[in-house]
Amino acid sequence: MSASKGAAREVIAIDGPAASGKSTVSRRVAKGLGYLYVDSGALYRGVTCAALAHGIPGTDTEGVLRCMAEREFAWEVADGAVTFTIDGVRPCAELRTEAVNQNVSPVAAACAVRVQVVEWLRGMLCFGSLVMEGRDIGTKVFPDTPYKFYLDANPEERARRRHGESQEPVSVAEVSASLQRRDTIDRRRAVDPLKVAPDAEVIDSTGMSIDDVVQHILNAIATRRAEST
Ligand code: CDP
Repeated sequence: MSASKGAAREVIAIDGPAASGKSTVSRRVAKGLGYLYVDSGALYRGVTCAALAHGIPGTDTEGVLRCMAEREFAWEVADGAVTFTIDGVRPCAELRTEAVNQNVSPVAAACAVRVQVVEWLRGMLCFGSLVMEGRDIGTKVFPDTPYKFYLDANPEERARRRHGESQEPVSVAEVSASLQRRDTIDRRRAVDPLKVAPDAEVIDSTGMSIDDVVQHILNAIATRRAEST
């Protein structure tokens, strides 16, 4: 996949910690702009899922890399998003199991895994302008985009939101502990840790509705565009 055709295309980077509302907001911003939505975390989850299916834990970086090389990851555009298949199958609910939650951050902390995933993500520009959500989109994947947002919310609200989405019999306290464990690994890892890009706008969505956050981002993009013309 080549990104060369995408030189004039735009990327809206939306980063932030787990369960900060990035997915819903990013999807809606993409729809509002007519851009394609990309969930970069789903790719790290897909790699984790593929490894776990072979009995490889997230901490076994060699095994994870072998698995990435052996399985075929391919891209397709569906429902306004760039999605992926692994050996021809599009993963769905299996990306969000507690086993994947537990193993994904160690997978994503491995430098060689990130090098490959970042290359995949940059290549997606060949499909069109993108709204991409993740942890390092504004700092590493597309550091030159002028459109960077960092979405946050307080830990209690994030745990409540994620507990509401969970398909598994877990308590709010367990969800909260799992989110905190991931946040800690994501923030402390040596390679491309979760942090606010210096030129990102931080939005604390605690107590804000999804509509308010989406509208705020669309307005900010329109303002930035007007300023740059
Ligand atoms: O949806 P949620 O906020 O729970 O997480 P996600 O976006 O699905 O990401 C899952 C994990 O992938 C994160 O906890 C990070 O460890 C990793 N990730 C990353 O390192 N870099 C990204 N750009 C996106 C996700």
